Amino acid sequence: MEDFIILAHDRYSCRRFSDKSVESWKIDRIIEAAIAAPTASNRQAWYVWAVTDEISQAVVRAATPYHFDAPVLLVLGVRPEDAGMSRMSGINFADIDGGIVGAHMLLEAHDLGLGSLWVGDFHADAIQEAFTETDGYRLVGIFPLGYPADDAEPHKLHFIRKATSEISMQI
Ligand SMILES: Cc1cc2nc3c(=O)[nH]c(=O)nc-3n(C[C@H](O)[C@H](O)[C@H](O)COP(=O)(O)O)c2cc1C
Repeated sequence: MEDFIILAHDRYSCRRFSDKSVESWKIDRIIEAAIAAPTASNRQAWYVWAVTDEISQAVVRAATPYHFDAPVLLVLGVRPEDAGMSRMSGINFADIDGGIVGAHMLLEAHDLGLGSLWVGDFHADAIQEAFTETDGYRLVGIFPLGYPADDAEPHKLHFIRKATSEISMQI
C-alpha cells in the first residue's frame, strides 16, 4: 500500500492496455473502494456496470472512440431521482457523488497495479438503449480498465498542474 500522496501523484490516465485479463477479485475491490466514497446524505445513488462480456463490450466500444481496447469497461451511472439535495440551494448532488465514486475507483485501480481513466466523451443514449438496466440513471463515465501495456505512459497533459498559488490560498 502506497502513501496516499504518492498514489495521488502516480495515478495517470492509462490509454494503452495489455491483453492480460483482470482478475474478478480486483474488480470487486474497485467496487468496494467505490462503496467507501462519501455521498450526499449517504444516498449512494449510483451504480457500476462491469462490462466484460464481448457482445456487451461491443455496444460500449461503439459508443466512444476512447475505449482503448481495454479488457474491462466499467460504466458509472448516477440516479438524480434518489440523490441527496441541498434544501438551501436546491442543488442535486448526483453528479458530485459520481465524481467522488469515480475518483475512488481510479485510485484503487492504480493501487492494484491496474490502469484506467475517466472517459466522459461517449454517446450515453446508445448505451442506455442497449441496456435497459441503466434506465433512470444518468451515465457519467466509462472507465476502461486493464493492466497497463509495457509502453503505457502518461500523456504530457498529466504533468501540467497548476501551482498551489494559482489554485489555493489561506484567507
Ligand atoms: C470528467 C472527466 C472526463 C474525461 N474524459 C476523457 C475522455 O473522454 N477521453 C480521454 O481520453 N480522457 C478523458 N479524461 C482524462 C483527462 O484528459 C485526464 O484526466 C487529464 O488530462 C489529466 O491527466 P491524468 O489523468 O493523466 O493526470 C477525462 C477526465 C475526467 C476527470
